[in-house]
Amino acid sequence: MSAVTVRVPAKVNLQLGVGPLRDDGYHDLVNVFHAVSLFDEVTAEPAGRLEVRVEAALDARVDVGGVPADDDNLAARAARLVAARLGVEPRVALRIRKAIPVAGGMAGGSADAAAALVACARLWDDPGEPALDRDDLVELGAEIGSDVPFAVLGGTAVGVGRGERLTSALTRGTFHWVFATAGFGLSTPAVYAECDRLRELRGEPAPQPSVSEELMTALATGDAKGLGAALTNDLEEAALSLRPSLGRVLDAGRELGAIGALVSGSGPTCAFLAGTEEDADGLARALDGAGVAAQVHRASGPVPGATVV
Ligand code: C5P
Repeated sequence: MSAVTVRVPAKVNLQLGVGPLRDDGYHDLVNVFHAVSLFDEVTAEPAGRLEVRVEAALDARVDVGGVPADDDNLAARAARLVAARLGVEPRVALRIRKAIPVAGGMAGGSADAAAALVACARLWDDPGEPALDRDDLVELGAEIGSDVPFAVLGGTAVGVGRGERLTSALTRGTFHWVFATAGFGLSTPAVYAECDRLRELRGEPAPQPSVSEELMTALATGDAKGLGAALTNDLEEAALSLRPSLGRVLDAGRELGAIGALVSGSGPTCAFLAGTEEDADGLARALDGAGVAAQVHRASGPVPGATVV
């Protein structure tokens, strides 16, 4: 086989309920993931040794400067895991073309790892009698990071535990989103730590999170307004505490007609829900004009997870 290219979506968290800090340094979560139509592409091609190249996708103004182009790249870890599982050497060149904001709270690095899992399995596994099915790749993904399994699966799903134990959620229709990126990144561990710090400061015990019934009903009935009202993110306060300017971005989106607004994951990207595709186009133009964001992207969801193209 020569080269395999896999397209993989970004995610937004429709609900991110953060529970207590566990002994292993992770938090118990209830995480409702939703895959949206902002895609990275990863091409895997046989090579003399494991190589990684990272570039911005054509006409995506993504700053890839902070992405490691070596063994530390999550896609390289994915390739090594698949190789070890199949008993082959990880001799592959991975070319990553990014359109998902880097360090943006949209799981771009995890998406690349998921794409590499799928691409390398296609490259090295026996097509007649595959040793690894999609469930195996979802499981391998959990060894790389909490958001990787979802990027393999796609759609809309509820994650519990560290966020990696997934169940697909029933949804109806398509939801229309606008994403506003920031000119800076936020470190995920730093945002979780700030969430713990703020809770401790208030003397507030971490709640055990549970799935929002309102959210699930809105998803199942395709009710955009209901979904907008049910969006929640327990990390939002922490992200705003570290970067207060994000509050102005959220306010701007709400004033310009978003029916739901929240920080995506650990941020700093802000996500806005619109009622219709036209509303989303208008909101994107208005937000761009308001000059509060580094970049504004339109996307819709749910979309499938990592897919060979
Ligand atoms: O699993 P992953 O490496 O993607 O997580 C990145 C960081 O996010 C962790 O090192 C941890 O600080 C934080 N995290 C957490 N609880 C989770 C998931 C992630 O504290 N359930």
